[in-house]
Amino acid sequence: MKTILTGIKPTGEIHLGNYIGAIKPALELAKIDDYSPVYFVADYHGLTKMTDAEEFRHLSYGVAATWLALGLDPNKVIFYRQSDIPEIFELNWILSCLSSKGLMNRAHAYKAIVDENRSVGRESDYGVNMGLFNYPILMAADILMFKTDVVPVGKDQIQHIEIARDLAESFNHLYGKTFVLPEYNIQEETAVLPGLDGRKMSKSYGNTIPLFEEPAKLQKLINKIKTDSLPPESPKDTENSILFMLYKEFATDAEIEEMKERYAKGIGWGEVKQELFQVINRFIERPREKYKELMASPATIDRILKEGAEKARAISTPFLQEIKDKVGF
Ligand code: ADP
Ligand code: TRP
Repeated sequence: MKTILTGIKPTGEIHLGNYIGAIKPALELAKIDDYSPVYFVADYHGLTKMTDAEEFRHLSYGVAATWLALGLDPNKVIFYRQSDIPEIFELNWILSCLSSKGLMNRAHAYKAIVDENRSVGRESDYGVNMGLFNYPILMAADILMFKTDVVPVGKDQIQHIEIARDLAESFNHLYGKTFVLPEYNIQEETAVLPGLDGRKMSKSYGNTIPLFEEPAKLQKLINKIKTDSLPPESPKDTENSILFMLYKEFATDAEIEEMKERYAKGIGWGEVKQELFQVINRFIERPREKYKELMASPATIDRILKEGAEKARAISTPFLQEIKDKVGF
């Protein structure tokens, strides 16, 4: 059995891009018999950005409820809150003492902020907290603690998995073989979903369509998606159409073929938006109800996550002991 592990941080409402790019592929991988899946709410990672306690709590429940509403089975997947597993933070410290500061200086997320600060003439570390700086080490601890073989993530996370591998190798070299070297799994065929303005759909750009939006609001947001000014009767190109890209993710094969023909013949954007709304709404109708039920019952979510944490700690507690013995505690 191979361990497959991934986490999502609670820093905003889950949107269609998160679903297509991260949750849907992870749920599909969880069905493969050779994999033993470990999925978690990366709340300590979220804390690097969140300062409003109520909002943070709400978003953490939201990430958990989203996975469950979309069909994650807690009997098959070890599913927990990162902050319920204190061993991860002990390992985080041990790994911190093996991480060179120079390596962290070169981590993309941090480097991007520094470059941006410099370009506008600000002090280079403006707005950077130590949690953000140390982020890749905590992520390595998440991964290495569960002897993870495969990490399904988006392209932006590749460097983090490489850092986890480097740290695992350093530790193994110093103290003997202990950690498994993780590999990443990128869903090449999964498109990066564009948002309302055509850029990557992202919380940071404020251009998202939240996954569990109510129907009226959902239709409104879809109507906002940018299109060109071709008249309805003009033939249209599916290749560069954001509407088509979204449609493809939720429609059946027959519907997709039909839509392609209608593009070729000429179809009005208003009509495409209407159809797009129908297929997305059809897909989310039931998960949205489930999501609402769960969000109205945080105690249910807590119970499921606590049970998951017990299973996770059955692995992390003895493994941390082994690690500490090797290090010389
Ligand atoms: P955001 O950019 O909204 O802050 P995150 O960085 O928290 O999203 O991403 C969580 C997961 O969702 C990652 O695995 C990421 O690759 C995936 N993801 C985010 N936005 C998109 C998108 N527009 N298309 C496809 N996948 C995405
Ligand atoms: N850094 C990931 C993201 O921003 C979230 C995350 C935290 C994660 N720990 C992880 C992903 C461990 C995979 C494995 O999306």
